[in-house]
Formats: sequence, C-alpha cells, structure tokens
Amino acid sequence: MSRRVSVSRFSGTLRSLRMSTTAASSRSLEGKVAVVTASTEGIGFAIAKQLAHDGAKVMISSRKQDKVIDAVSKLEKEQGCTVKGVVCHVGKTEHRRNLIKETLDTFGGIDILVSNAAANPTFGPILETPEESWEKIFDINVKSAFLLAKDVVPLMKKRGGGSIVFVSSIAGLQPSLQGLGAYSVSKTALLGLTKVLANECAHMGVRVNCVAPGIIKTKFSGALWQSESLTEAALAQIPLRR
Ligand SMILES: NC(=O)c1ccc[n+]([C@@H]2O[C@H](COP(=O)([O-])OP(=O)(O)OC[C@H]3O[C@@H](n4cnc5c(N)ncnc54)[C@H](OP(=O)(O)O)[C@@H]3O)[C@@H](O)[C@H]2O)c1
Repeated sequence: MSRRVSVSRFSGTLRSLRMSTTAASSRSLEGKVAVVTASTEGIGFAIAKQLAHDGAKVMISSRKQDKVIDAVSKLEKEQGCTVKGVVCHVGKTEHRRNLIKETLDTFGGIDILVSNAAANPTFGPILETPEESWEKIFDINVKSAFLLAKDVVPLMKKRGGGSIVFVSSIAGLQPSLQGLGAYSVSKTALLGLTKVLANECAHMGVRVNCVAPGIIKTKFSGALWQSESLTEAALAQIPLRR
C-alpha cells in the first residue's frame, strides 16, 4: 500500500504528474467537457478542480444539494474554472440520466467521465458481510460505474473519442487489508471492467483507464487513518513504512 496523503497533496501530485507528462500548456483540456461523480469533496473534488484548472468544463455531482452548491461555488472562485453542478446519487437510474442530460444541455457534450463514487457500508470478515451490504457495494462501486460508462460511450463516439477513468483502490490490487473484503473485491472488479471496456472501446477512440489510490486522508477512509492499529496494519504493507 502506498503512503497516506492528504487530499490537497493528492491534488498537488496530480498537478505535478500532469506537468511531468505533458507539454508546458496548462490548459491542455480546453474545449473538453468532464463529468466527475462524487465530486463535492475528497478525491473527486480534487480531480474536478484539476480538470477545471486544465481548461475542461466540469460537471460536479453528488447526492446532497448543499454539498453540490458549496463545491461549485468554491471552484467558481478559482480563476479560469468553468463548473456547474447537479445532484446525482449514482445508484439511481434517473439521477444518472439527469447528470448526463444536464451536462449535454449545459456544455453540449461529454469527453471525459471520471467514475469516482463508492460505498463501503460494512467492515469485518468477508464471510460476515450481510447480503444487503454486498448488494450495495456492488451496486454503487461496480454496476453504476458500468451503467454510466455504457451511457456515455455512444456520446463520446459521436465526438470522435473520449476518456473514461474509474477510481479503484490499492485494495483492489492487493486485497489484503483486513476488514475490507467485499469493498476490495468490488474494486478488483473495476480493474476487470477497465480491461474489457478498454478493448471494446479503443476502435471508437474512447480510452478507458483506472486509478488505484493508496490511503488518502478523507472522510471515506477515516476508519483506517483514525485507528492506530489499522494505520499500523496498513503501514506494515508498505516497504518504506510511510
Ligand atoms: N480515501 C482513500 O483512502 C481512498 C483510497 C482508495 C480509493 N478511494 C476511492 O476514492 C473514491 C472517493 O473516495 P474519497 O475518499 O474521496 O471519499 P470522500 O472524501 O468521503 O468523498 C465522498 C464523495 O462521494 C459522494 N458520494 C457518496 N456516495 C455517493 C453516491 N452514492 N453517489 C454520488 N456521490 C456519492 C459524497 O457526497 P454526498 O454525500 O453529497 O453524496 C462526497 O462528495 C472512492 O471510489 C473510494 O473508493 C479512496
């Protein structure tokens, strides 16, 4: 597992990655439209902010209206950022459709989808995972990611291509952190989904990728970094222990 970092440092890392892998232009996504799910705080917010700084028009979204308004107003204050927001619980079909419709109505198309939403309602041995928790985890983390991708691919194809990014986890690559069994399996499933879709969508000019963050200090991962024993267990899996 890689070291724990704060969201602001994660955002900084994204920025330096971009700077080290692209030419000097800081507006390389000018003219592009991006949709980011679960983007009113944490990793999704950091991604939305970076995409907006890189010139993309960004549609922010999450379940709670007040958080959407707050996130949009924060980003609107940043120079050169074009952002709008809409409520979208990714597990609800009508919300996903409305997210796409609002983006098309507002910005005229979709070039980038970052599927970032996840749920983890349970913690403990996988054999003790209640069926309803398993269903929720796979509904939010895998099925809704797939259904969103399914709906945006034809729109991207019409524009000559696009980019889909799923947010998996180090837990999907190394499902060894105790207590995160079902969540880890769902994140592993995203790696498979990425490979299958990447193969099927390449001929349309649609790239499909996946990122697998280590532990980032957010609300979502609070149970890990606020517990000394779990922090120790996580650090024990990192060769540099940091
Ligand atoms: N933090 C980590 O250490 C870590 C490590 C690896 C991978 N990840 C992955 O990174 C992603 C983001 O996690 P995070 O740590 O940034 O979480 P976070 O800081 O707790 O933020 C969660 C965001 O998701 C929204 N959200 C929650 N459920 C949603 C749903 N069903 N539909 C739409 N939006 C929803 C929340 O807003 P509302 O409450 O308004 O919905 C909020 O904006 C997840 O896929 C997670 O698995 C996180």
